Amino acid sequence: MRGESPDRRVLAPAAPRGDKGGVTDATSPEALKKRPRVFSGVQPTGTLTLGNYVGALRNWVQGQHDVDPIFCVVNDHAITVRIDPEELRRNTREVASVYLAVGLDPEHCILFVQSDVPEHTGLAWVLNSVTYYGELHRMTQFKDKTAKKQLEGVSAGLLNYPILMAADILLYDTDEVPVGEDQKQHVELCRDVAIRFNGLFGETFVVPKPVIPKIGARIMSLDDPTKKMAKSNPNPGSYILLTDPPDVIRKKLARAVTDSGTEIKAAADKPAIANLLTIASALSGKAIATLEDEYAGKMYGHLKKDLGELVAETLRPIQEKIATYMADPAQLEAILDRGAERARHIAGPTLARAKQRIGLGWRQSGR
Ligand code: TYM
Repeated sequence: MRGESPDRRVLAPAAPRGDKGGVTDATSPEALKKRPRVFSGVQPTGTLTLGNYVGALRNWVQGQHDVDPIFCVVNDHAITVRIDPEELRRNTREVASVYLAVGLDPEHCILFVQSDVPEHTGLAWVLNSVTYYGELHRMTQFKDKTAKKQLEGVSAGLLNYPILMAADILLYDTDEVPVGEDQKQHVELCRDVAIRFNGLFGETFVVPKPVIPKIGARIMSLDDPTKKMAKSNPNPGSYILLTDPPDVIRKKLARAVTDSGTEIKAAADKPAIANLLTIASALSGKAIATLEDEYAGKMYGHLKKDLGELVAETLRPIQEKIATYMADPAQLEAILDRGAERARHIAGPTLARAKQRIGLGWRQSGR
């Protein structure tokens, strides 16, 4: 807690931010109106990684009380690749538990599951008509996911995925979309689609902007610092899962690849050390330059050992809370049901507006 004696270790978890800071009228209609609407989401395709936490979730939590926040478990996106239905159900509950465990406040944020709000797929169909095949085909993530695959085996959903993501964002008159670097291109496509629709059919959508963190927008693999940390990597040593036990976390970091030389510096020719320093900086709240100074004269092993402790310590309370939410499905469902209801309140009128503009709202009565 702030005001207590500071932790003297080189790497200690940053003091939590995101408390209401004594602002009593934070949820008054006037205050909410002035704050930017924020929307973001995570796919329930597996247990989340430290990359998801550093690049996205941590920033959502830190900023939640300065904005008007909506966070969604985007399970409609997850079926664009083959996934076992039981696993999808479990992952959906787990991602929602992670949202709560990392500190998203369900009293303040709208937290919901995408498939509970059919307006998402409804608007995606409308946006299909103003998005070009060439635009979708050029998306880096589509190219990466389909590289070396026969097109026959690639679902149309995978190609259309960014349209659904655009629908997610545009349904809520979103101003800001906090994401990691890899999602920037999708948010830019969403902007293009919104601008095009507004140009063709009249002002309908707010044009959003991506918000990419300064530190940790792209956490790299522990076994190869040229690749993004991702749970799809076949080597489990390449990523840290939010549910990895402390000894596994320490071991994975101890085995992380390093660079030649001995100096602990975030230099261009030291991508592996730069990645470890980035994680350390994000989780401790210390600037990279400060960490470089503090590690001057020390060995790579020191940094890896301290980082193992820092990550394990940061994740320990989160893991305890994930387990608590997973063990209480009734509570989880109540929170998500309420979130879906609130989300539909906003999404319904936006979809109706878009359908009206494009001519799908056909009644002369204007209904
Ligand atoms: P997803 O589920 O792949 O990732 C969720 C978030 O985590 C970030 N992220 C990372 N950040 C830093 N380093 C990494 N190694 C790393 N890996 C993942 C991602 O950038 C993302 O912010 N299409 C999205 C989900 C989505 C969405 C949306 C996001 C669907 N609709 C609307 C925002 C708004 C996705 O697949 O993220």
